[in-house]
Amino acid sequence: MASSPQEELLGDDVTRVVRVGDTVRRPVRPFTATVQVYLAHLHRQGFTAAPLPLGVDEQGREVLSFVPGWVPREPLPAETAAEDVLAGLARLIRRLHDASAGWAPPADAVWGGLPGPRPAREHAEGPAGGPAAGPAGLPPDGPSVVPADGARDCAPELVSHRDYCPGNVVFRAGLPAALIDFDLAKPTTRLYDIANALYWWAPLLHPADRAPAFVTADIPRRAAVFADAYGMTEAQRSGLMPVAVEMVRRFHASSRAAASVDPVFLRFWEEGVKDRMPRAEAWIERAAPEIAARLVAGL
Ligand SMILES: Nc1ncnc2c1ncn2[C@@H]1O[C@H](COP(=O)(O)OP(=O)(O)OP(=O)(O)O)[C@@H](O)[C@H]1O
Ligand SMILES: [Mg+2]
Repeated sequence: MASSPQEELLGDDVTRVVRVGDTVRRPVRPFTATVQVYLAHLHRQGFTAAPLPLGVDEQGREVLSFVPGWVPREPLPAETAAEDVLAGLARLIRRLHDASAGWAPPADAVWGGLPGPRPAREHAEGPAGGPAAGPAGLPPDGPSVVPADGARDCAPELVSHRDYCPGNVVFRAGLPAALIDFDLAKPTTRLYDIANALYWWAPLLHPADRAPAFVTADIPRRAAVFADAYGMTEAQRSGLMPVAVEMVRRFHASSRAAASVDPVFLRFWEEGVKDRMPRAEAWIERAAPEIAARLVAGL
């Protein structure tokens, strides 16, 4: 393998990823072994729409199977705005949740997260996958800055991906077919995970910050499309928007914290996150009642 040609795979500069034949090589991080155990569990459960964990190579890099397909980048291209794309992603995430449910992580599990001081609760973490993540030049936020919200910080139900940014979704035949980059996987709730997916793919953003094909999108309808395809229960439909509103609020805080300590996240912040997150926060607070009503009423 050492003599195979290496091709650098372009992401969002968060992780240096190299392709070697049918594999990718990524730096080993403290959470790598835990994520590999999780990925192995998923494959054992029949969820093969994720990289196969292949251990560590002779250079000390993580080895994963290369997942063939097309990976979109922001701004999301027009062909990804179709409702069947959103429905396909919802079905993929439902399969992931079903494969994950009931799995107990190892006792010594180590999970990843955004750089920087951040609130103790997982919901405080941000959309780390792309330029919409991370903020700064500002004082670091910590647990005292984002108060816990007991009503919305539910106990984790399962381990899941938690970072459905465009660069982490592999398409085949025009539809989401697999998920990559499980760096932010950890114990979470179904609703938090769904809120993250909708943030990127509804998207739950002010129209000024959406890709052109999404500017006039009917977001309440798209949320309902996702809910139907996922098979969300009545309770999940009525519980989603409070989680999503709180998630966006906390994205803002954790993005700021990441930018205060990490140059890549500082660049994201300066390039637009510092404007996008406050707009997203204001927009979702305004839009939440209509989205919630549509989720409950159905399509
Ligand atoms: N297992 C894989 N199979 C196929 N392509 C992959 C795989 N892992 C990574 N890639 C490609 O490399 C790109 C970057 O990888 P990755 O998402 O792991 O890092 P990153 O983009 O820097 O992190 P992030 O997107 O979370 O900021 C992906 O968007 C994808 O195009
Ligand atoms: Mg990625």
